[in-house]
Amino acid sequence: MTKEQKEKLVRAQQGELNAVLIYQRLAKITKHNNGAKVFLEIAADEGKHAAILKSYTNEVLKPEATKAKLVGFLYKLLGHNFVIGLLEKGELKSIDSYQPLKDDFPKIQQIIDDELRHAEMAKSLLK
Ligand SMILES: [Fe+2]
Ligand SMILES: [Fe+2]
Repeated sequence: MTKEQKEKLVRAQQGELNAVLIYQRLAKITKHNNGAKVFLEIAADEGKHAAILKSYTNEVLKPEATKAKLVGFLYKLLGHNFVIGLLEKGELKSIDSYQPLKDDFPKIQQIIDDELRHAEMAKSLLK
């Protein structure tokens, strides 16, 4: 593992941990009928992704709540559909950052497949 790969994996691991908090927070505040169920399902996947990345980095990281607070704020301020759009973009962007890692770290393909599914799940919540 190169230094650059390690840095990318650690950054991704932190992002996945933060995503758990983001989706858990959204599950709490959403008023969409399916929202809580879908957001909690995604949150559980993001936790699995963090665990996969930890198996490569051996780093123990703590989730940071800053982004979850920001997303919760935006949800209340700019609304459900706005945040769903952000989530979809975020999921697809994360796939772009995982692509260059998947050959050296094969379990990342599972993460990529999940993120694509998450983008679809988020879109399914558009009102
Ligand atoms: Fe993820
Ligand atoms: Fe995701």
